[in-house]
Amino acid sequence: MYDALFTHARLATMRPGGAPYGAIEEGAIAVENGRIAWVGPMAALPQRDARERHDLAGRWVTPGLVDCHTHLVHGGDRAAEFELRLQGASYEEIARAGGGIRSTVAATRAASEAELLAAAESRLKPLLAEGLTVVEIKSGYGLEREAEMKQLRVARTLGQRNPVRIRTTFLAAHALPPEYEGRADDYITAVVEEMLPAAHAAGLVDAVDAFCERIGFTPAQTERVFKAAAALGLPVKLHAEQLSDLKGAVLAARYKALSADHLEYVEADGIAAMAAAGTVAVLLPGAFYFLRETKLPPVEALRQARIPIALSTDCNPGSSPATSLLLMLNMAATFFRMTPEEALAGVTRHAAQALGMAASHGTIEAGKAADLAIWDIERPAELAYRIGFNPLHRTVKGGVSCPPR
Ligand code: NIG
Ligand code: FE
Repeated sequence: MYDALFTHARLATMRPGGAPYGAIEEGAIAVENGRIAWVGPMAALPQRDARERHDLAGRWVTPGLVDCHTHLVHGGDRAAEFELRLQGASYEEIARAGGGIRSTVAATRAASEAELLAAAESRLKPLLAEGLTVVEIKSGYGLEREAEMKQLRVARTLGQRNPVRIRTTFLAAHALPPEYEGRADDYITAVVEEMLPAAHAAGLVDAVDAFCERIGFTPAQTERVFKAAAALGLPVKLHAEQLSDLKGAVLAARYKALSADHLEYVEADGIAAMAAAGTVAVLLPGAFYFLRETKLPPVEALRQARIPIALSTDCNPGSSPATSLLLMLNMAATFFRMTPEEALAGVTRHAAQALGMAASHGTIEAGKAADLAIWDIERPAELAYRIGFNPLHRTVKGGVSCPPR
């Protein structure tokens, strides 16, 4: 007996190697215990009873979407900074003048857990309405032990209140808090000796990230964070080469990072190192767009090196106040010249890999979680084609149909 059976579906399984999109026309998916028990052409479906039957009438089904890089939990907004930038100030100038990330830190520290939860949930809802089933959420706006843990707890609470799986990433090495001005090495000592061990002991950390940049932390400081993560058995990721090439990708690859993210300024050495280490490239077209960056990430070189490319909203108040993953597909196609199929892989298979979840998520395959997005579209390219239109029919998480949006 199947728990649920989805029939008359067009499946974009996103399994690599076969038809475009791993497509199966006239397909079926059988679910047992929250997992995909069987997937294939309807004609080959092993006939068994099912508790629930869903005739999808030719709708397309993709893996549930995965947003693998967000700063969803934060206080306040930076609309005033947006206005300053429109008058000519740069992102870096604002950060150096004590605005930028630091202003969000002040707002996040001041917010109660309930306030952070409500604000984050209001940003999560539009993502969920577009078929999201997994989202990574970073800390990094607390920059002290309790405030970082508060952010991560709120992230976990979002997953208890909503039909979505949450991965939490510890990003205390995001910016230097004002109380450590001029003492960045001392701050990193606090990060690795007190903050990370405490957050890890509380079970709040799935991965560790840092911002390696002129306005963030040096490679040497970043490496101290990576060493501490490795000692705790935690995988690492890195905000690398967003504004300049500090060789963050090379460093990340040395620590077998799950992903290196942004990468506009990465060069051949970083790409080669990532390829050898199996590190996913996470591109963030929302930040590229919102900061009016003109240097494109080296998509063709990443392709040539066979590095999986993921895409994400980077949802954050300063560089990408974006809550639409579908819009990122469109931007990746228009700005980065990625194909609609590459873009969809970027928010499914490759995004799951960027979170270390490739074994259980990111494609429609037997044995994986039955996390699906069902769409009212005629062809998968429509997901990247439209701007500001949402064709989601409904989401399925762990085999359970979520209410229609
Ligand atoms: O991914 N680059 C660093 N972190 C964020 C921006 C954070 C902020 O400006 O608040 C990013 O772009
Ligand atoms: Fe980011």
